[in-house]
Amino acid sequence: MNFDYAKIRPCGSYRQKAMELRDEGTPIWVNDFAQGFWVVTTQELVREVYLKADIFTTDSVMAVEPETDPKHILLPLNLNPPHHRKYRNLLAPWFSQTKVKELEPLLRASARNLVEGFLAAGKVDAAWDFCALLPINSLLGAANMPMSVAPQLMQAINDFTRGFSGLEATETGGTEGMDAAVDAIHGVTNQMIAERRARPLDAKDDFYTYLTTELVEGRPLTDDEIRQIGLIYVVAGMETIRAQLGWLLYHMAKVPTDRERVLADPRLIPAAVEESIRYYTVIWGVGRKVGQDVHWHGVDLKKGDMIYALNDAFNRDPKRFADPDTFDLDRKMAPHLSFGFGAHSCIGMHLARTQLEVALEEFHRLIPDYAIEHGAVIEERGSEVTLQSLPLTWAARA
Ligand code: HEM
Repeated sequence: MNFDYAKIRPCGSYRQKAMELRDEGTPIWVNDFAQGFWVVTTQELVREVYLKADIFTTDSVMAVEPETDPKHILLPLNLNPPHHRKYRNLLAPWFSQTKVKELEPLLRASARNLVEGFLAAGKVDAAWDFCALLPINSLLGAANMPMSVAPQLMQAINDFTRGFSGLEATETGGTEGMDAAVDAIHGVTNQMIAERRARPLDAKDDFYTYLTTELVEGRPLTDDEIRQIGLIYVVAGMETIRAQLGWLLYHMAKVPTDRERVLADPRLIPAAVEESIRYYTVIWGVGRKVGQDVHWHGVDLKKGDMIYALNDAFNRDPKRFADPDTFDLDRKMAPHLSFGFGAHSCIGMHLARTQLEVALEEFHRLIPDYAIEHGAVIEERGSEVTLQSLPLTWAARA
């Protein structure tokens, strides 16, 4: 196989490719693309990649970039167990179900403000003006960060994720383009560190006061560590929601029968969100760096090799999901892999689900009837499968 997993392609291409790989049935491929890496496509092997942390390390999580640039380190993702656990525990209270419940009014207000802003126009590029902006506004609010940095962050997050997804590495052979984005994001974090060190707020309610005062292994976090956490907070939190919300609205626009069911019975919204998270798997797969020479399921993996575990194939395995290629609002859901698995499973999953549910509720409250603009050409970026635009139209109210 020689497949660029990040390239911008017509909408639906990556779903189609995951189905083809699943149907082909070869459990382990060699992808000759970039420096070359392994690709695993069966649910059993994908699970193993997640679980065997001694073999499959997170020293690098970009399949096309085996050497993680120190500036691009994401904490705790780039740490391996058992060291990883201390940082994970430190962050956990900020992403608990209780915390997310507290945040719900803010998430709702952020969604409502945006929808009210474009309602009268009768059209919006939802990919940007709703799906990208909403998590930025929400997560800035949740962390008491200044809203004035939103435009700067939006650009930087997009540029960083292009690189992190592999698009820069595959197009230009390097990830240098991510540097300016990282500098901008770290600049915002530096500002937060300086402000909270000078004038701390209550560490129970304020993320950056907590990060600048809480101890790990009996010592405060270093500024580098706080920047690495600040980076994952914005890129993991904001870019994934942007992608997932885009697909949720895309689906509701494309399949009016599902939208009408959800409008008639809003209790179906959590099911619609969960099925969209499975069916439209935005983290197409995860990268791991092989930590030791090992013979594994018939192949010789070498220390330093990269491997890519295809979440989307797992999520479409007919042994787990009946009729997996159908979006089914009534599906009795088995656990999917869209939030990862094992030590690094998504710490923000409760926040993500609530943000998506509330966003759909608020969008539908004011704009119940909408469609994709006639003739629009919709494309998606790979790796973190994200719609590049989503022009929606509706009858504007006078
Ligand atoms: C629909 C939205 C989301 C999806 C699909 C998603 C998906 C994932 C996946 C697949 C992983 C595992 C990565 C790996 O093992 O290499 C992960 C980890 C992570 N996610 Fe999310 N995520 C979402 C939203 C969020 C949000 C809202 C936040 C926080 C604001 C967040 C923060 C994180 C962090 C910090 C990790 C690393 C955890 C660790 O290393 O222990 N994510 N996410």
